[in-house]
Order: sequence, then C-alpha cells, then structure tokens
Amino acid sequence: MKKYKLITYMLLFAGCLSAQDNLSALLPMPNQVKQIESKKDFIISGKTTIQTNLPEDAFCIAKLKDILRQRTGKTPTLSSSRSGSSVIRLILDPSVKGDGHYLLSVSEKTVSIKGATQGSILYGLMTLDQILLGDVCRTLSGKIAPIEIDDQPRFSYRSLMLDPARHFLPTEDVKFYIDQMVRYKYNVLQLHLTDDQGWRIEIKKHPRLTGKGEFYTQEELKDLVRYAAERNVQIIPELDIPGHTVAVLAAYPELGCTGGPYEVWRQWGVSEDVLCAGNDQVLKFLEDVFTELIAIFPSEYIHVGGDECPKVRWEKCPKCQARIKALGLKSDDKHSKEERLQSFVINHIEKFLNDHGRQIIGWDEILEGGLAPNATVMSWRGVEGGITAAKAGHDAIMTPSPYAYLDQYQEEPETAPTTIGGYQTLKKTYSYNPVPDDADELVKKHIIGVQGNIWNEYMQSDERRDYQAFPRAVALAETG
Ligand code: ACM
Ligand code: ZN
Repeated sequence: MKKYKLITYMLLFAGCLSAQDNLSALLPMPNQVKQIESKKDFIISGKTTIQTNLPEDAFCIAKLKDILRQRTGKTPTLSSSRSGSSVIRLILDPSVKGDGHYLLSVSEKTVSIKGATQGSILYGLMTLDQILLGDVCRTLSGKIAPIEIDDQPRFSYRSLMLDPARHFLPTEDVKFYIDQMVRYKYNVLQLHLTDDQGWRIEIKKHPRLTGKGEFYTQEELKDLVRYAAERNVQIIPELDIPGHTVAVLAAYPELGCTGGPYEVWRQWGVSEDVLCAGNDQVLKFLEDVFTELIAIFPSEYIHVGGDECPKVRWEKCPKCQARIKALGLKSDDKHSKEERLQSFVINHIEKFLNDHGRQIIGWDEILEGGLAPNATVMSWRGVEGGITAAKAGHDAIMTPSPYAYLDQYQEEPETAPTTIGGYQTLKKTYSYNPVPDDADELVKKHIIGVQGNIWNEYMQSDERRDYQAFPRAVALAETG
C-alpha cells in the first residue's frame, strides 16, 4: 500500500516524460546536470557488471543491486575487472570533497558514481534510481542517456521530525520514513519521543514512564539508529522538557509543582502542568533519563524541547520561587524571572550533556530568559528566533511555521480531511528560502539547515500521516 502510494508520488513528479524532462524532474534537482547530446545511451543488460572499491558488504552495493533489479529486472554481479562494455562503477574518491557531494556520469560503456563517503555515493545512487524510475515509466528500456551530474546539498542539516508521542508509529513505519528521507537526500530524523500524551522511550531506571501506552524498547531504538546510519540518516532524539510533560507527571506526580494527581493528557494543546523547576529531584530525574538516552543515540546533538512551557505553576510554587530567590533571578523588561528559571533548567541539562560530549538543540523558546551557552536553536514560531540566534553566533535550524509545518492544511480547508489548522500549499513551502542572498554574514554562517515537522495530533493513521507529509516534504528537500 505504502510502496504503491510513494511510487504514485514519484511518477507524478518524475515520470512519464521525455528523457530531457525526466532529468529536469529529479528531486531534489541536482546543482549541475549536463546532457551530452552527441554520445550513445548506456544500456543495462545481462552483460552489465558492477565494479567498486567499496567493501564487499557495503550497503551501497546491495542498494545498487536492488535498484537495478526493481527498475530493470537485471541482476548484475560484482566484477574485479576494470574493463567491460557495460560497467557501473561506485567509487570512493576523497577528492570529491564535501558532505553529500557526488559525481554521477553516464557514457556509452560506463555509469560512474563517485563520492568521498558511502553516504555521498548513496546520494548518487538515489539520483540514478530516479532516472531509472522515469525510464521504467517511459519505455522499460533500461537505457540511460549520457549525462554528467555534479551535486551537493546546500545545507548540512536536512531534517524531518516525526511525532510518535501523539500517535505512536511502529518501528516499521519509522523505517519507511527513513527510506523516503534517503530518497530525497534528507540526513536527519528528529524523533519527538515524549509529550503530554505519552512517553515513548523505555527508561530502565524509571519504568512507570512507559507503564501505560505504546513505546519503543531501547533495543528497538538501537536498531532504528543502525538502520538510519546505514542510509546516511542520523536520528536526533527529543525529550521535550520542562513543558509538555504531563505523561511524566502522571507516572511520577512528585515531579510536578502541585503534586497532582495528574492523568496522561487526552487532549491536544499546551498544559499548565509542567515539571517543577525548584525540585532537585527533577534535575536528578532529567539526568537519569538523558543518561539512558545518550547510551542509545550516538548523535552529537540531543534535542531538549523547551517549547510551550507556561509559567503559571512556577509563579505560585514555593519550591520554584525559592530557587528563583536562591539564584537571584530577577524580572526585567526583556524576561520574567520564571523565564530565567526555565533557562536555568535548560542550562543545567546543557552542561550535563556537554560534559558527556553532546550538544543541545532546543525550540526557539530557549532564547527566552537567556540562551544556553552552546545551544543550537530550532526556529519554529516564524524565522525571528533563528535569525536572532544566528546573529548571536549560535547555530540555527529553520523549521518555521507555516512553511515547514506539514501538519497544516495543504489544500482547500473546507474540503480537506481535518488537520490542526493553517493553510500551507506546496507552492508556499517551495517558496521558503531560509537564507536570502542579502542576509548578513553571521546568518549565512549559522543557519545550518531546514526541518519539516510532521506533528501527529490529527494523523490517526499512517495514510493520513503520509498524505500530510507528502509532497511538501519533497519541497523542503529541494530547499535543503
Ligand atoms: C512546536 O511546534 N511546539 C515546536
Ligand atoms: Zn515548582
């Protein structure tokens, strides 16, 4: 079902066109595509062989065989000979510098893909796959017109975010997304693992967190990390703190300001019940859960959330107010003392994670109350947070609403299936440029990428989720 759907999307974009159109519909469009008119086509036949300097068990070799079998029915094998009348070469070449940079050239006798890493070669393969997919639709010929492609991503961070906290995604669905992401040359998957409606990661020290509801075991997550890494995708986990934590409070009510009782939330929105920032037990709890998290996820970045944390409980809580007093936090015209208290929590976790060799990312609210010293900001409430962070010398990832909010309507809201709201067409998503040409130098340097958010509140089924995510996720891939 899913495969069928995605092929339909692909054909919509890439298929059933002339050879030339078929190249111009590559997604994302490579930086340079040169068609060589005078030469003959490469023909994939029973005589085609694969030649490579990659290790024999490299994922790229298996992937190439898979592509050829699927798109042409042919099953070429590895050959150690450099010669041959029909050879596909996958070559690790350190001179093709740059993350994700690959060269793909097709001549009568040779298809060659070169890159400095297996991830870069994989991108060349994904382009080859799109060319062949167009070809299958046209003629079933297995012919590739001579071309030279030189391609490299614009940004180092090209991400989608999935939200298993709101509606759980089984691991096979996450793998399905990883497969689509590599197809469109995304290299980061953010997993929003916790929210008011559920805590989805097994924590051995605090088993009540997953006492109710579906969750990923640590072994399942390690398997996902491996699966993604093979496909040049890094998984960045998010534990959203100190707000969006009703599921934590339901399991451990002593970690809230009022002591509860609390229930796992059955509604969407922003809860006033959040972790108590004045309670040392909360800091210890956070250190425990992040300790188990970083043992599963090797990513340099760890996302700590930080969004939508109302301060009404903290304003009334004796422990929170005592902490504010002890730290000497004061309100001024920029920030309230409770906002500064949130910065205290985020700074505490940043220091803990920095001490363990990791860096933090937070939603743009982490700017309020003072930014943690080494944090990367994820700009979601528009672009200002990202621009402010970049101008202050912090890295920023742009995922601004509405452009990158793939949960919003993409067609006429009157007739579309219910979503969270908004109205964000494919064209509008395509129109987003995170770094305009006239941006200042700090902004150019520190905006490191883009992310599309697939918030899952109104996506009860995988069909709904895929429908919302595509094709706009392809538009953001183009931006990346
Ligand atoms: C967010 O959409 N609350 C980051
Ligand atoms: Zn409190």
